Amino acid sequence: MSTKAATNHLFQTRIDLSADTRELMVTMLNRQLATLTDLYTQTKHAHWNVKGSNFWGLHKLFDKLAEDVEGHIDETAERLTALGGRAMGTVRMAAANSRLEDFPEDVHVGLEVVKVVADRYAAAGKEARQGIAQAMEHGDADTADLLTAVSRFLDQSLYFLESHLQADERG
Ligand SMILES: [Fe+2]
Repeated sequence: MSTKAATNHLFQTRIDLSADTRELMVTMLNRQLATLTDLYTQTKHAHWNVKGSNFWGLHKLFDKLAEDVEGHIDETAERLTALGGRAMGTVRMAAANSRLEDFPEDVHVGLEVVKVVADRYAAAGKEARQGIAQAMEHGDADTADLLTAVSRFLDQSLYFLESHLQADERG
């Protein structure tokens, strides 16, 4: 695909980043959007389905995490639309573009659910850091800043999740 064809679908903007850079950022941010949307639905899935003696704490934790992910979804989508892109915002688009593994159907016991959710937050955090590196490489400090906030949130969420696991994982 030629550069011209690749950038044809961007809207014009007065932002002083090249069309090539904006195209790269839009593509990368749409992938981040898909991952975060997938992460949101998997976190709600955990919120609804978790069972066990620590049900209430986990039920509330997953709901709080999902609520916070939603805020980052909105920021991510509106950064890429600010760059002239179109947000691939539906769950079907997210399912097609997300690189996260799906939530296993037979997992519902408290700490097993925490392990699955922690794996997904770690994968999303890794992807956000890759996005930061790409944004810095192309001189888009604002996208890097946005994804830095995303990855900082994902790391903190991982701390909340892993704290349930670490008492059994010492040594
Ligand atoms: Fe709920």
